[in-house]
Amino acid sequence: MMALVPYDRSSLPALSKLHDTSVEFHFANRRVRLTQDWNRLGVAAVVWDAAVVLCMYLELGQIELGGKAAIELGAGTGLAGIVAALLGARVTITDREPALDLLRTNVRDNIPPDQQGAAVVSELTWGEGLERFPAGGYDLVLGADIVYLEETFPALLRTLEHLSSARTAVLLACRIRYDCDRTFLHRAAAELRRGGGPLRGPEGHPHLQGDQAPDSLQSGALSHFYRAAKLQTLVEL
Ligand SMILES: C[S@@+](CC[C@H](N)C(=O)[O-])C[C@H]1O[C@@H](n2cnc3c(N)ncnc32)[C@H](O)[C@@H]1O
Repeated sequence: MMALVPYDRSSLPALSKLHDTSVEFHFANRRVRLTQDWNRLGVAAVVWDAAVVLCMYLELGQIELGGKAAIELGAGTGLAGIVAALLGARVTITDREPALDLLRTNVRDNIPPDQQGAAVVSELTWGEGLERFPAGGYDLVLGADIVYLEETFPALLRTLEHLSSARTAVLLACRIRYDCDRTFLHRAAAELRRGGGPLRGPEGHPHLQGDQAPDSLQSGALSHFYRAAKLQTLVEL
């Protein structure tokens, strides 16, 4: 079932930011300016708060990025993948085909010319054509606000399983909108542990919890719905 909800953007400031044609951030000692296009591409063409949370987490330095092979799923405008590349990772930034032009524009505009090779844009629809990507070939799998469509969960889980191995950190920053989102994260954590062998890395790896989040994230209830969690060590979101 679908519902059409008309709204007046001027009376809903939270929605009006979706209509901004560009947004700017500061990460990795650089200005990152991204083009948005909500009217043409919808959810894939605006920066979601989970992506900002994930970038803040990457900047905290808990995960080694230098020279690491990373892949971002459902990248949208590409913020998290771009920041991971600026912080030293070699990143494959992926989304469905309609999102790729804007993604390429944002990568080109924000990765310095001599580092362009650090970020490659590629089509990846969850669960499809996975053989194009090396099985277990990534040190890091990134996803910001990609746990939101229940019908995609089986394909998303297959994708996470294909891309990761015991050495992989899977970082998902999520806004939990429905119980099924949380259920999916627990299931994914369990499946990835099973497939990835014994737990690696420090126990109690610092998740980004509401009360531990950077100050700028603590205002408002929203921050309590975000977590950046290394799924291999995830116990409770
Ligand atoms: C809510 S947006 C998040 C975008 C971006 N990661 C961010 O946080 O700003 C969800 C993203 O998942 C992508 N997506 C949805 N279903 C997908 C699928 N089946 N395969 C690949 N990407 C998908 C959408 O195109 C969109 O870019």
